Amino acid sequence: MLTRRTAVRNLGLFLAGSPLLEAQHDLTNKGERLPAIDELVNVLDFEPVCKSRIPNNSYDFISAGVDNEWTLRRNRQAFERITFRRRMLADTSKMDLSITLFGQKAEMPIFIAPTSSHQMVHQEGELATARAAAQVKTIMLVSSISSYPIEEIAAAAPHPLWFQLYPDADEDGTRERVERALAAGCKLVCLTVDNPYRFQSERLERNRMSTGGQPGDAGSAARRRRTPEQQAPNRYLLRPTPTSRLTWSFLDQLRSWSKAPLLVKGILTAEDAGRSLEHGADGVVVSNHGGRLLDGDPATIEVLEEIVNAVGGKIPVLVDSGFRRGTDVLKALALGAKAVLVGRPPLWGLGAYGQAGVARVMELLQAELARAMGLSGCPNLASINRALVRAAP
Ligand SMILES: Cc1cc2nc3c(=O)[nH]c(=O)nc-3n(C[C@H](O)[C@H](O)[C@H](O)COP(=O)(O)O)c2cc1C
Repeated sequence: MLTRRTAVRNLGLFLAGSPLLEAQHDLTNKGERLPAIDELVNVLDFEPVCKSRIPNNSYDFISAGVDNEWTLRRNRQAFERITFRRRMLADTSKMDLSITLFGQKAEMPIFIAPTSSHQMVHQEGELATARAAAQVKTIMLVSSISSYPIEEIAAAAPHPLWFQLYPDADEDGTRERVERALAAGCKLVCLTVDNPYRFQSERLERNRMSTGGQPGDAGSAARRRRTPEQQAPNRYLLRPTPTSRLTWSFLDQLRSWSKAPLLVKGILTAEDAGRSLEHGADGVVVSNHGGRLLDGDPATIEVLEEIVNAVGGKIPVLVDSGFRRGTDVLKALALGAKAVLVGRPPLWGLGAYGQAGVARVMELLQAELARAMGLSGCPNLASINRALVRAAP
C-alpha cells in the first residue's frame, strides 16, 4: 500500500535522480539559485553565475589581471574609441558567418582561446568545452595545461581541435608533446610566446596567504607540504618559464618537426609579426594574454591594424583579449583580423552550466555578430572592410 511516507520518499528519490537537480549541483554549494540559462541575455551575464558556483580562488585565478589590472581594463575600454560607419540598403536578408581557416571550417569567426585546467570550474573540464565547440561548430584551441590528456579531449570532440603549445624545459619533452597532439588529431600548433615569466596576480597572492593554496589546493594541508621557497611571497621571486630560454630560431625547429600549420600567439608589434613571418609562421595571434602578463601592454584592438599592415595579407592575423560582444568582434574584423578568440567567456559558461553554458556563450556572440553585420550592410565576412570603422583620435 502506498503510504504518505512512501510517496514522499519516492518523490525524493525521483527528484534526486532528475536532470534538473543534477544541473543544480555545483562545486562549492554556495547555495545560490541557479538561473535558467535562458534568463542570461548576454555573455557578461555568465560571469556572476559562474562566480557563484566555483571556489573563490578559482574565480580569482580566471578573472585576475596583473598588477593594477590596467591592461585588463584597457582591453575593454579601447573598444569605446572605435565607432561604425555602417552602410545601408545592402541585401542582408541572408547572413553567412562561416569561415575556413587553415583548412578547417567554422560557423563563426569566433574561436575558443586556449585556457588552462578547465576542471577548475567544472568536473567535465575540457571534455565539455570540446563537445560544446563541436556543437556550435567552432574551433577550440586546447591548452598545453589541460585537465584531461589531449587524447581524451580529442576523442570527446567530433570536430578537429587546435593545440596550444607551451614548450617543456627539455626539447624531447616539447617534441613529444607536439607529436602526441598531432597523433590525437589536432590540426594546428599554436605556440604561445608572450610568457617568458609566469603570471603573477596580487589577488591570488592575497588568497594564497589567507588560504595557503592556489586553485585546487586543499588549504592548510597543501601549505604544510610547501617548501620554504614556495611559501615565500610570490612577489619576491622571478618565475621564469621554459619560454624564457627560447629565441626566434625555435620556430624553425618547430617547423622541422611537423608540417601542421603554425600559429604564433602573443604578438604585440609589427616587428615581431614580421619575425614570425620570416620564421615560417602561418598566422599570428595578437594577444596580451587577457591582461595577465605585463601591465602597460596596450589593448590588442589598438595595435591590431599595425600588425595587419605589417604582414600585408601574407598570413592571417587573429586577435584576442577583452572581446565580450559581437560588436567588439566586428570592429576587429573591420581592422583586418580574420578571427577572434575568447578566453574567459567560455570558462564562465562552463563554470555556470557545463557544456550547455559554453555553447550558449558562443551562440550569443555569434548572434550578436550576425546582427551587427546585418545592420552594417555586411551579409558575410568577405564584405567587411576597413571603411566600416573610424577610430577616435
Ligand atoms: C584562466 C586563464 C588561463 C589561460 N591559460 C592559457 C594557456 O594555457 N595558454 C595560452 O596560450 N593562453 C592562456 N590564457 C590566455 C588566453 O588564451 C587568452 O589570450 C586570453 O584569455 C584572452 O583574453 P580574454 O580572457 O579577455 O578573452 C589564459 C587566460 C586565462 C584567463
